[in-house]
Amino acid sequence: MILVTGGTGLVGSHLLYKLALNTDRIRAIYRENSNLNAVKNVFSYYSINSEELFNKIEWVKADITDILELKNAFENITKVYHCAALISFDPRDYEKMYRINIEGTTNIVNFCIDNKVSKLCFVSSIATLDKSVNSDIINECCEWVSNKNKSDYAITKHGGEMEVWRASQEGVEVIIINPGVILGAGFWNLGTGELFSKINKGFNFYSEGITGFVTVNDVVRSMINLMDSSIKNDQFVLVAENLSFKTVFSEIAMAFGKKKPKIKITKFMSAVLWRVDKIRSVITNSKPIVTKKSAQSLHTKSYYSSDKIIKESDFKFEKISDAIKSICELYKNNLKKEE
Ligand SMILES: NC(=O)c1ccc[n+]([C@@H]2O[C@H](COP(=O)([O-])OP(=O)(O)OC[C@H]3O[C@@H](n4cnc5c(N)ncnc54)[C@H](OP(=O)(O)O)[C@@H]3O)[C@@H](O)[C@H]2O)c1
Repeated sequence: MILVTGGTGLVGSHLLYKLALNTDRIRAIYRENSNLNAVKNVFSYYSINSEELFNKIEWVKADITDILELKNAFENITKVYHCAALISFDPRDYEKMYRINIEGTTNIVNFCIDNKVSKLCFVSSIATLDKSVNSDIINECCEWVSNKNKSDYAITKHGGEMEVWRASQEGVEVIIINPGVILGAGFWNLGTGELFSKINKGFNFYSEGITGFVTVNDVVRSMINLMDSSIKNDQFVLVAENLSFKTVFSEIAMAFGKKKPKIKITKFMSAVLWRVDKIRSVITNSKPIVTKKSAQSLHTKSYYSSDKIIKESDFKFEKISDAIKSICELYKNNLKKEE
């Protein structure tokens, strides 16, 4: 039986959908406030039998920081896809991220070892890869050097990776994937989904920073391929294309038939913005919208290579511009459904 954590998020819901197409023995964990309807909604984008596929999943209530709850979830489990994490650039979330991204992963790893789980796939991030000394291209060889200049999110995801390598030392076969910014349908008001809703409403700003992008469909396809292959104890960068935020924002705007964002966010503007937003968030005791780290990342130019997965498993990534068009179509259909 397969166990999926984070099944109520962007990656996990798409993974559950793909797994449900081919297997009946899937268990997924959820929490008290998880939105299972959002998962059903994602399934409905891709299949007219979405209800039937959704019903194949056995849902067990478990928080990854709660050992007693996890014990039930691990009964008869042979393979684990660990997607659950907290993604935040709010410095106030550090302890929470530490608990979920590191200690939660420690729990998953310990249960995998104790239950003799055969294979574990961990969704990490390109955030855990350091810049290369010899080249501008970042790949799996660009190991973590130090916590200096890293976001709290990156530090905790790196801590999670260390736990997963420990599992490999204890006899569990592991796969770690390091995806770039993941684009996909659903969860339109959260994470990268917000890009689509904001740009559809006329968001008019862009930056010239560059990073790696990948679609959620490619992420889950590669996870399943790697888990079903003989590849083990290995790590793969998942980046389809290195693109500027300007290009991605413009393509989303064009797919919605809107004008391309026109106002360039300069380094000066973002430096003012995060400071003003910090004051606002302290006064109103609310979450910051822009933090120092997220503002800086808008201007960083980082280039990633996925040559390893392309060569080792003959993997072909979908084009980001094509995927953006499909995601925007799903967004528009979703809006019509809500009317
Ligand atoms: N999105 C990206 O661009 C991106 C890029 C690179 C890597 N990643 C990695 O990809 C993975 C999935 O990301 P995503 O975009 O799907 O995130 P997401 O949409 O925010 O989903 C996060 C998932 O984790 C679950 N979760 C959080 N804390 C938990 C806890 N204590 N116990 C159990 N479940 C918990 C959430 O459950 P609830 O529904 O209950 O909150 C949700 O199912 C993460 O590991 C992330 O680090 C994401």
